[in-house]
Parts: sequence; C-alpha cells; structure tokens
Amino acid sequence: MPVTIRDLRAFKDRGERFVMLTAYDYPTARILDQAGIPAILVGDSVGDNILGYPTTVPVTMDEMLHHTRAVARGAHQALVIGDMPFMSYQASLEDGIRNAGRMLKEGGASAVKFEGPFIELTEALVDRGIPVMGHLGLTPQSVHAMGGYRVQGRDEQDAQRLVLEAEGMAKAGAFALVLEGMPSEVARTITESVDVPTIGIGAGPSCDAQVLVITDLLGLSDRKPPKFVKRYADLGDVITKAVTRFRDEVTAGVFPDQEHSYR
Ligand code: KIV
Repeated sequence: MPVTIRDLRAFKDRGERFVMLTAYDYPTARILDQAGIPAILVGDSVGDNILGYPTTVPVTMDEMLHHTRAVARGAHQALVIGDMPFMSYQASLEDGIRNAGRMLKEGGASAVKFEGPFIELTEALVDRGIPVMGHLGLTPQSVHAMGGYRVQGRDEQDAQRLVLEAEGMAKAGAFALVLEGMPSEVARTITESVDVPTIGIGAGPSCDAQVLVITDLLGLSDRKPPKFVKRYADLGDVITKAVTRFRDEVTAGVFPDQEHSYR
C-alpha cells in the first residue's frame, strides 16, 4: 500500500523514527522506493545540486514539475512531496493555490512543501485537499535576506519565534514540519509541542524523522558539506574510477571485445 500522510503521523504516534530523502530523477526514486524509504522530497535543492545554480532561488515551477514527474514515475510506495520553488507562492494566495495544484495535477506529487510560516496559504491548501509539509528555521530560499545560510533560533527570542511558527503551521493543518538549521534544544521543544511529525536536517537528534539531500549522502556534491551532513557513500569516486577505466580500455583497444560485440 502506498505511504500516506496518515502513515507518517502514525510513525510519530508509535514513537517510531523514520526518514525522508530527496530525489530528482526516475532511477533514484526507484531505488529509494524499493529500499523502503517512506517519503521522497523532490526538493528545490535540485537547483544547486543537479542544475548547477548557485542557490535554490533561480529554480522555476516548470523545472520542479519536470523533476517531480520523473520521481513520481519511479516511486510506487513512497509518499512524493513536491517542493514549491521561490516566488511560486510568496506573491499571492492565488499563486500559491494554483501552483500547489499544478504540483499534484501535473507533477504527480501527493503533497507540497514550502518554506516559512504561511498560515493562510496552509489553511487554503488543506481546505482544497492539498496536503502541506511546512519548512521552518533555516529556509534556503531566504539566503539573501538571512545574509547567508545561518542557523536560526540561537537566542531566546528567535527560538520562541520558531516554536510559535511551528505551532501555527501545525494548527493550520500542516501534516509534517521540516526543521532545518536550528539548535537541537529548539527542535526538541517544537517536536514535543506539536502533534505532527518533525523532520530534521541540521536540527539534532530529537526530531521524529531525519531528511538529507541525496547528493550529500551519496558523496556526489562538489561543495563543502555543512556540519550536519553525513556522507554514507562516495559515489563521486566510484563514477570517476568507472569512467576513467572505460576511457583507458577504449584507448587501449581492450573494449569492446568479442563478448560485447555482434557477429
Ligand atoms: O530542497 C530540499 O532539499 C529541502 C530539504 C533540505 C529539506 O528543502
């Protein structure tokens, strides 16, 4: 049975931790799905991880739809969440509703995620049958406003702001909250004060779930990984070895051999 937003809530109710990972293409989605990853986020991190943009800011709605469709084709069990790119929901409620609708209708996602405490938009989408995942704390689309990727909620007042934002989003109907780049203590307070699952990234061990960007986890990223990233494989090295071996075998006349040729 495909994973639903109710299943994610049930994980929290049972006190069972779970994971979410990003994916941007069909083969990765297929592998994550078959590995039993319950939630796949088509993050706007596609921008700085796959498309070569310096940040997530330039990512367009059409680019997100293109990648979301590919992921949805590969994920048969996992819940697919489409990330709303910068300025697809900030200018007006109407923009947000229309673009979130496109994410489900054209992208094949089962839910949307957006950054920041957009309470009215959350209520409007939930009313219209569009499940919302919130994203609070360090919100990368605001990189220019934050003056860089800065951990949020470090002082008492800012921590209190994050707790209120989280409570507001949960009350508005968000089914889960990504908590990014905040002290573990703040994430723990939020996790204890909302009844929806919190999914942490750089928010310590007390969240109900954890998410990582797949290219960081697999060692495919060319940037210095942030402190919270753990690299579980070095696929960059695996690919480099494979392609150089291919080049060397072709130039040496070793490949293709009889086995790989038609008679
Ligand atoms: O776009 C993304 O990958 C994200 C995760 C960091 C949660 O928003």
